[in-house]
Amino acid sequence: MAILIGDTAPDFTLESTEGPIHFHDYIDGSWAVLFSHPKNFTPVCTTELGFTAKLKPEFDKRGVKVLGLSVDKLEDHGGWAKDIEETQGTALNFPLLADTKGEVARLYDMIHPNADNTLTVRSVFVIGPDKKVKLKIEYPASTGRNFNEVLRVIDSLQLTAKHQVATPVNWESGEDVIIVPAVSNEAAKAKYPEGWKELKPYLRIVPQPRD
Ligand code: BEZ
Repeated sequence: MAILIGDTAPDFTLESTEGPIHFHDYIDGSWAVLFSHPKNFTPVCTTELGFTAKLKPEFDKRGVKVLGLSVDKLEDHGGWAKDIEETQGTALNFPLLADTKGEVARLYDMIHPNADNTLTVRSVFVIGPDKKVKLKIEYPASTGRNFNEVLRVIDSLQLTAKHQVATPVNWESGEDVIIVPAVSNEAAKAKYPEGWKELKPYLRIVPQPRD
């Protein structure tokens, strides 16, 4: 059965470049990103892992633990990590799982047999501190992902987990947000005494809450 937004992220135990990972213990009340890439020593994957390593301070700032997965062997991860550092200018700084049997890849539907029978597609799961799936994205092997977009969605998820707001199209952190329709005008007045811009009764805009 496919894993859907709102489902509990399935637990697993697997070897990684930083030792065995027990996924639910690894999450340990933090946010997490679990992402697959198709294959070591391939060009697009090399750029993606280098860029994700570069973004580590941004993930740390948001309290997010990053975990990569490939179906390649642990022994191969070390040599490829050297290439990533050499060509992308940043060393791997998060664990890379070695899912040689494809068990976790199948558990998370990262193998799409009509695309490729053995390699994973480019999947991203964002998982909340409650271990529930908050976001899933899938890209084909030929298209590198935009990890700035992953950070943007995490900003939205963390904001909307705290406040009864939603974020509009192309929203970036710091921009105006939407009061969700479930909040009555009375309740909104208490929370936003300075008011809001009402384009329609269901489309009420306020500055991004700051705390
Ligand atoms: C790549 O990372 O460039 C790649 C990996 C697998 C299939 C196609 C491209």
